[in-house]
Amino acid sequence: MTKNTVRFLLNNDVVTIENIDPNLTVLQYLREIQFKSGTKEGCASGDCGACTVVLAELDKDNVGQLHYNSINSCITFVGNLHGKQLITVEDLKDGAKLHHAQQTIVDNHGSQCGFCTPGFVMSSFALHKHNKTPNRAEVLEALAGNLCRCTGYRSIIAAAITASTDSDEDSFAKHYQTTVATLTEFQELPSPVLAGNGHNFIAPKNIDELAIELTNEPKSTLLAGGTDLALSVTQNLATINKLVYLGNVAELTNFEETDTEIIIGSALPYSKFIDTLHHYYPDLGEMIERIGSKQVRNNGTLGGNIGNASPIGDMPPALIALGATMTLHLNGNERTILVEDYFVDYKKTVLKSAEFIKSVQIPKPTPGQTLKLYKISKRIDDDISAVLAAIFIEQQGQKITNIRMAFGGMAAIPKRAPAAEGVLHGYSLTKALVTQAKVALTNDFQPMSDVRASDKYRMTVAQNLIEKCYLELQSANARKNIETRVVNHA
Ligand SMILES: Cc1cc2nc3c(=O)[nH]c(=O)nc-3n(C[C@H](O)[C@H](O)[C@H](O)COP(=O)(O)OP(=O)(O)OC[C@H]3O[C@@H](n4cnc5c(N)ncnc54)[C@H](O)[C@@H]3O)c2cc1C
Ligand code: FES
Ligand code: FES
Repeated sequence: MTKNTVRFLLNNDVVTIENIDPNLTVLQYLREIQFKSGTKEGCASGDCGACTVVLAELDKDNVGQLHYNSINSCITFVGNLHGKQLITVEDLKDGAKLHHAQQTIVDNHGSQCGFCTPGFVMSSFALHKHNKTPNRAEVLEALAGNLCRCTGYRSIIAAAITASTDSDEDSFAKHYQTTVATLTEFQELPSPVLAGNGHNFIAPKNIDELAIELTNEPKSTLLAGGTDLALSVTQNLATINKLVYLGNVAELTNFEETDTEIIIGSALPYSKFIDTLHHYYPDLGEMIERIGSKQVRNNGTLGGNIGNASPIGDMPPALIALGATMTLHLNGNERTILVEDYFVDYKKTVLKSAEFIKSVQIPKPTPGQTLKLYKISKRIDDDISAVLAAIFIEQQGQKITNIRMAFGGMAAIPKRAPAAEGVLHGYSLTKALVTQAKVALTNDFQPMSDVRASDKYRMTVAQNLIEKCYLELQSANARKNIETRVVNHA
């Protein structure tokens, strides 16, 4: 019988691991066990991109196709590799021939000390795998999670923007069919486990296996992308006894659209649903493009963003404003609640022992409805919010028939502003009414001061965002365009 080991391709070689501490990150595994030191450690917290590697996965929507995702290896646990192909900077060269992503760096003088270079090369490699002629905005999006301290970005961007006419000829293209066949075989294997240093990992394949696992061991820690959880290991030096990986659970990685709803599996990474959300709610799509970096969005999930119950998570205020619901699963039983009702107090939620988030349901917009989102952070990309304002308004003519305003960064939990909503509900939007709503907001929140912003700043900015929303609604042309802003800021 096949053993339940973690199996993946490292470049084109099958690797099987079983007796490894599952708290090990992919970066540590590469450098300390495989002695592949091309992948660098800068921050060990997902912020610099020096550790970027690429994971090729079977594309669920296109049978027989692979998808290449850049990820931060420093915040990805080694068990997450199961069933994927791990590609590192050492693997790109085909014989003596540098890969397009490497050669263009040479041609454009895109490397000085070189520490960041492997990460940039891997981000560029992933981009060119799906887009041979990326424009400047697409390159900026792909490279936003990579920092360079000495070369400067002009030459690196020029390198990545160069069309990759010959990338079909790289060694991965040559092995494409074999890779698909091998990864398909891996999918048939029983759910993998890992054990080392007294710590365990399991990756259930379906929701029943997951529910049984959690009922038997309710103290297990749920692991989705790990972009939040891994920091407890790399930054706080914690160790996690039992990790239960959700990324292979079929029911948690589904995506479905009905006539009225968008249903997103809790363990589906952002990059798989951003386009659909952008289509229905442009502000939401633009905001998700500002969650972390491409590497973070390729691993990070909605379940993780809600599950970590952070007061500054970006999705909860948006979901609350939209009136989204979430389905929770406990040992075969399911309940659906408003996202709004999930958060109880700082880091406290209604989730019961052994229960998990299965999916999130977002209502599709109907005529007269508008969602406005404002993320206030010090940088456009890869930055945590000081304040996030989400304002959903439904109007009949000028009259507001429904309004939900939710804020992040203003309280111990993401929450609505009932007093300010009450001022506006049932009336036509006027400047005088907006002024009253801004005053009422002081009854809804008593924000705190921390390293990101003072209480006074938070309140002032939140009040001003209500006014900004009003002004934008008055002027159809005033809608911000994040892509234009990214290009302008580069
Ligand atoms: C560099 C960087 C930038 C970031 N930028 C942003 C940002 O701009 N905005 C933002 O909001 N966040 C940001 N984050 C935080 C993080 O990326 C997001 O919160 C992400 O959505 C977490 O998802 P994950 O799948 O990686 O969660 P994980 O790390 O796997 O899990 C996070 C928590 O949720 C729990 N959990 C996971 N799935 C479930 C489930 N299905 N049911 C119940 N509990 C569950 C886990 O047990 C864990 O406690 C950033 C992180 C990094 C490293
Ligand atoms: S080492 Fe900085 S993002 Fe991984
Ligand atoms: S080349 Fe030195 S950090 Fe980029």
